[in-house]
Amino acid sequence: MARKCRRICKVEDSKSKKIVVQSKDGIKTKTKEKIRDDLGSGRIINTENTNKGNANNEILDIKALERSVLKSIIGQDLQVRQIITAIYRAIYFKSMKCNVLVIGNSGTGKTETIKQIARVLNIPYTIEDATKYTQEGYYGADVDEMIYNLLENAKFDVKKAEKGIIIIDEIDKKVGHEEHDVSGIEVLKSLLKIIEGTTMKIQLPTKTWDDDKMIDFDTKNIIIIFLGAFSGLEKIRDKRLNTNPLGFTADNAESKEKLKSRFLKQDLVKYGMPEEFVGRIDTIVEMNKLTKEDLSLILRKSRLSIFRRYQRELRKMGIVLSYDGKLFERIAEESISLDTGARELSNTVNYIFEKIMYDIFANPQKYKQCILDLDIVHDNTKYKLS
Ligand SMILES: Nc1ncnc2c1ncn2[C@@H]1O[C@H](COP(=O)(O)OP(=O)(O)OP(=O)(O)O)[C@@H](O)[C@H]1O
Ligand SMILES: [Mg+2]
Repeated sequence: MARKCRRICKVEDSKSKKIVVQSKDGIKTKTKEKIRDDLGSGRIINTENTNKGNANNEILDIKALERSVLKSIIGQDLQVRQIITAIYRAIYFKSMKCNVLVIGNSGTGKTETIKQIARVLNIPYTIEDATKYTQEGYYGADVDEMIYNLLENAKFDVKKAEKGIIIIDEIDKKVGHEEHDVSGIEVLKSLLKIIEGTTMKIQLPTKTWDDDKMIDFDTKNIIIIFLGAFSGLEKIRDKRLNTNPLGFTADNAESKEKLKSRFLKQDLVKYGMPEEFVGRIDTIVEMNKLTKEDLSLILRKSRLSIFRRYQRELRKMGIVLSYDGKLFERIAEESISLDTGARELSNTVNYIFEKIMYDIFANPQKYKQCILDLDIVHDNTKYKLS
């Protein structure tokens, strides 16, 4: 098993926390912290537990993964923890399936969170758009296509792909409590095949057309994550809470609050999801709506911040960017009005840098400093290059 990891680690000195790391480049000694910083290029191993002998004879450090993901994803701490716990459950407990449903508005980090986790854990994934699939297609080549995409992303390493992640986006578009999309429901039902775990015959690409290469692909350990906005689901939850037959008194106000904080499977059934489908979902995650403060923090701190990316690129060109710290709040304020979460941040920031970048590209190596005025959010001529 260890052979499959890019690194093989063992404790050298427990006091200094130095670890022997074997990689393609030979054997090196690194500190545990350094290894954590390298996350993304390999798997982290909790060295204190290496002798406990779990199935893989290695234990991934869940806290290191969480820390790494939270460097990118802002305002979803609880949600990130929920998702990684579900994924770890699937990794550790082979007998347990991992089917997660992530509900949240546009631009709250649904897709990005899974991408970050997969990147750090080095797990192959594919993002499939549920709306692309038709009832007929589902019984034909389309399920195969989904698995094929995963295999392709795993560079056709079958064993690796069998433990990969399939992200099925816009799943809510396949159901609708108002219009009741019957064919959509059939699509969901046909997805049960992968969810339940089955062996599929998949054709691998070959050098010659006539050379068939079919493989058996086991979907038993695949992690399936459904994403969707589910607009209107909140109303169903609110209705349930107000008409709960047990009723709520002042004494159990606290439990009402707890209940309110999560969706129940019955809400999804009311929304129009087939019961047998909902029954197979193990974890429901509700993303937070991002606040103005979250957006500002994304710009300031997140590894994904588009503002920081501009800053980095300018620095590489020898230009220092100067601005008032309040600029982040202004950008956040401007971006939040559209209700597309963090998605709008990149539009606002690109607008801010549009004229600046033209000036810089037109006069290479001329400038050393760029000062941004706070009003640049509304008028992108408000800057000074010198
Ligand atoms: N919580 C967050 N923290 C940091 N950046 C975020 C967050 N949410 C979104 N972003 C930024 O916005 C981009 C879009 O986010 P993402 O693709 O995860 O949205 P989504 O929730 O899947 O929305 P949609 O339903 O529109 O696909 C990300 O690439 C990232 O740069
Ligand atoms: Mg998305």
